[in-house]
Amino acid sequence: MALGQALGLRAGLVMMSRMPSPLIGDFPSYRPRRLRGSETLRRMVRETRLHPDQLVLPLFIRPGRKVRSAVPSMPGVFQLSIDEAVREAAKAQKSGVPAVILFGIPSKKDARASGAYAKNGIVQKAVRQLKLDVPGLLVITDVCLCEYMSHGHCGLVKKSGKEAIIDNDPSLKLLARTAVSHAEAGADVVAPSDMMDGRVAAIRTALDSGGFNETPIMSYAAKFASAYYGPFRDAAESAPQFGDRRSYQMDAANAEEALREVSLDLREGADIVMVKPALAYLDILHRVKSEFGYPTAAYAVSGEYSMIQAAAKRGWIDEQAVTMESLLAMRRAGADIILTYAATKAAGWLKEG
Ligand code: PBG
Ligand code: ZN
Repeated sequence: MALGQALGLRAGLVMMSRMPSPLIGDFPSYRPRRLRGSETLRRMVRETRLHPDQLVLPLFIRPGRKVRSAVPSMPGVFQLSIDEAVREAAKAQKSGVPAVILFGIPSKKDARASGAYAKNGIVQKAVRQLKLDVPGLLVITDVCLCEYMSHGHCGLVKKSGKEAIIDNDPSLKLLARTAVSHAEAGADVVAPSDMMDGRVAAIRTALDSGGFNETPIMSYAAKFASAYYGPFRDAAESAPQFGDRRSYQMDAANAEEALREVSLDLREGADIVMVKPALAYLDILHRVKSEFGYPTAAYAVSGEYSMIQAAAKRGWIDEQAVTMESLLAMRRAGADIILTYAATKAAGWLKEG
């Protein structure tokens, strides 16, 4: 059978199963283009919408005052001191972005990530200031140890060598402590990104016994070991000093395992589950949303952002059009919430459009 015939047959079957009534036939009586004739009509039959309410802006916080230190691999992204982060967050909020997620760059790192759960740690201070100065802004904190560890891994390291051996269970205590300290500072949502086994349960238990049973957990449930994180590690100064993250982040080939990870996190008490990265993992996003139906987030990671920036700078693609098409694709795949470095810009474009 010719390929064309085979495809025709398949298309025919799909059409048949979707046909509401025998009166509606194939071409020429049915013409899909009829509903694409004007922008008004296209708007009316549009299936997926992107709204600023769905966006979260990541911010990198560093010590100091009036510091805006450009991240070379992420044009338009800066490491900000708290006062500057307040301005950036207020600007985002003014554009309609309801939430930020904070990453900290501490002045000192050590082998127990003590900066991660310090009462006056960089993120804890930033949360307090943002809650004070930008009323109504939802402040989410990334809960991880890598930015605070001298070795740059997301958990405690048992043995260093060619491959880092991560000490899973003792790391849970530090992660839970970090989450509680963020909640104490006033964080509205905590978002563990470490990918240790059992961390959502550990964090939920610690939050509950600390009096924070109303604080939601947005877990990076299906977080893949991805080369798309490259620019972020410059921004957060969190590249591992040896080894890589493949013993805790997921293998890019695995979809069934991603669903198991999500299922575990939900059972452990996650309120929102995240898929990360976004664009190269839309199949995962779609399956997570359709299988569990929970609030689902997608993280459009640094590499995704930087690729668009780089190509747009050369005039090879249209920054706004490609950014918006990518964000819409994430929504179409099932994302309720999108974390993106383009949040403020995108919200602005949505307002204009
Ligand atoms: C650290 C963390 C990473 C990102 C979010 N949290 C990097 C990593 O796992 O190496 C990636 C974000 C991005 O690339 O934009 N736990
Ligand atoms: Zn980490």
